[in-house]
Amino acid sequence: MKTEYILLSDGNDEAYDRAGRILREGGLVAFPTETVYGLGGNAYDPTAAEKIFAAKGRPSDNPLIVHVARPEEAEAFAVTNSTYYKLAECFMPGPLTVILPKREVIPKSVTGGLNTVAVRCPSHPAARRLIEAAGVPVAAPSANISGKPSPTSGRHVLDDMNGKIPMILDGGESAIGVESTVIRLESDGCTILRPGEITARELLGVVENVYVADAVTDPSAAGENPESPGMKYRHYAPRARLVLVGGSDSAFAEYVNSYEGKCAVLAYTENKNEYNCACILDAGSKRSPEEQMHNLFSLLRTCDEIDCDIIFAHLPPKTDEYLALYNRIIRAAGNEIINLGE
Ligand code: TXA
Ligand code: MG
Repeated sequence: MKTEYILLSDGNDEAYDRAGRILREGGLVAFPTETVYGLGGNAYDPTAAEKIFAAKGRPSDNPLIVHVARPEEAEAFAVTNSTYYKLAECFMPGPLTVILPKREVIPKSVTGGLNTVAVRCPSHPAARRLIEAAGVPVAAPSANISGKPSPTSGRHVLDDMNGKIPMILDGGESAIGVESTVIRLESDGCTILRPGEITARELLGVVENVYVADAVTDPSAAGENPESPGMKYRHYAPRARLVLVGGSDSAFAEYVNSYEGKCAVLAYTENKNEYNCACILDAGSKRSPEEQMHNLFSLLRTCDEIDCDIIFAHLPPKTDEYLALYNRIIRAAGNEIINLGE
């Protein structure tokens, strides 16, 4: 299949019309969102879901997120409630995904056999225009080959999907860089199944209690029957071994500099001059979880292009604002952590 690659700019009406038609007719379109790029298909069409799983090489028990242009559009396929609308008022459009009971119209192939459906209303204008042009809700996982880091640029999508899908819309770099916060509603609040830019502290402004699923910080808890099926799969792993190192910045530098093979380091901007390894990649400011989230997936892809046998990175704190980063990077490292103490 030939893949059409469209660089979005002002006045792309014709491209959105065609992309919308492809979706309505059962084809796939990759598109930008504020978190990562998505691989979209018509959420009402079971064969579109099958095409998504095939293009990604993804196990079909891992459910897809259904994207809407406005929060109330979820009524057509999900059972909403007042908590959903309270959350929508604060965080939608934006990087929040809410799990709700599904209605009949959503095929089980979209939800991996579950009776619930994940709903998200992205804030990226291109994503919203595409959903409107399609006229149907858009089921979309991240647009990467299963197991690779989620794409944060059109180029990443092209690397993974060229020849497999009819169209890629390139809307520039994803602003956030990690996927949305996924939550399940509880009678007294909500549970974070996957952390993202919207943190527990922010959610606490809207619901009374926020719980965090064990699998968020402990990949081994995502075994047999994980609450969010996506958490049990190995994710984001670069080809070379990625090792997370906990401890002070100086202990980290000493440890990295004592390594004798070919290594790369994901260094904080503040101390990137302290290493003597061949490849030093700027992970962002030590004090900015936003910068580090923005850079992470792109850097993990860069790691596959350089010649190294090991990559060292700081172990992020497990605190609220770093939780999404912690969750992604421990998976990328296959939970390989070395603690140097303070
Ligand atoms: O930011 C995002 O959420 C991106 C963009 C494209 O919107 N999408 C994304 O989709 O990350 P995906 O498929 O890569 O991740 C979906 C996550 C998985 O961890 C999956 O298990 C969980 O959401 N999920 C989906 N439906 C669910 C459901 N019904 N119950 C529990 N978890 C669900
Ligand atoms: Mg994904």
